[in-house]
Amino acid sequence: MISSMKLAIALTAIPAALAASFDVQVAPGGQLVFTPNTVTAAVGDTVNFTFNPANHTVTQSTFATPCTPSDGGLDSGFKPVTAGGDPVTFQVTVAATTPMWFFCKQSNHCAQGMVFAINPPATGNTFDAFQANAEGGGSASPSGASASGAASASSGASAASPSAQASGGGSSNPTGSAPAPSGSGSGGSGGSGNAAVSARGAGLIGVTGLVAALVTLLL
Ligand SMILES: *[C@@H]1O[C@H](CO)[C@@H](O)[C@H](O)[C@H]1NC(C)=O
Ligand SMILES: *[C@@H]1O[C@H](CO)[C@@H](O)[C@H](O)[C@H]1NC(C)=O
Repeated sequence: MISSMKLAIALTAIPAALAASFDVQVAPGGQLVFTPNTVTAAVGDTVNFTFNPANHTVTQSTFATPCTPSDGGLDSGFKPVTAGGDPVTFQVTVAATTPMWFFCKQSNHCAQGMVFAINPPATGNTFDAFQANAEGGGSASPSGASASGAASASSGASAASPSAQASGGGSSNPTGSAPAPSGSGSGGSGGSGNAAVSARGAGLIGVTGLVAALVTLLL
């Protein structure tokens, strides 16, 4: 009895311990940047944006159209703040490890490169490519033919919503030269988040199993 109670308590504490929070400054010192401009986060982690003067946003877009709010995407709205005022923040909880792209929608800030990404791929649709696209007006499409692997043509450059973005990091690579997509995520719409959650869940099960074994040894 007592041992199973202890086990339950130990297992309950694990997910909270694994979640991390990342602080991102929006326009620190009045510069049109996010600092840092990328974050590598796991499912359940939080990104905490703090707004600096004068009047900026954190608005979700897509790789292909960096400066256009995505349908149903996250948007802090305009956050006019003055120096010395109370901190104004906006939190994004990471629901899947697929890339999430953001920009500031104030006047021409995006075209000046004020963009941000959570989990951008290291190759293909990189943060640098996203930012260059933003500075080019946000309408350029990635070059090259259709990506290899699971991604279909429709999940590449023309993805219009966050849920339509291909998962797996490399699967929407416009150059088609990256390694095959890792894991089981597909480029289809809607399903990629579940794949990421499942992967994370498997990791948690692994950790919980390890802890359960340790707890059993101790009891
Ligand atoms: C976000 O950061 C601000 C500081 O800028 C801090 O006061 C606040 O507690 C943080 N919120 C979360 C949820 O981490
Ligand atoms: C913030 O910017 C938006 C868009 O330019 C504008 O409509 C709004 O009035 C601004 N707010 C303040 C307080 O300046």
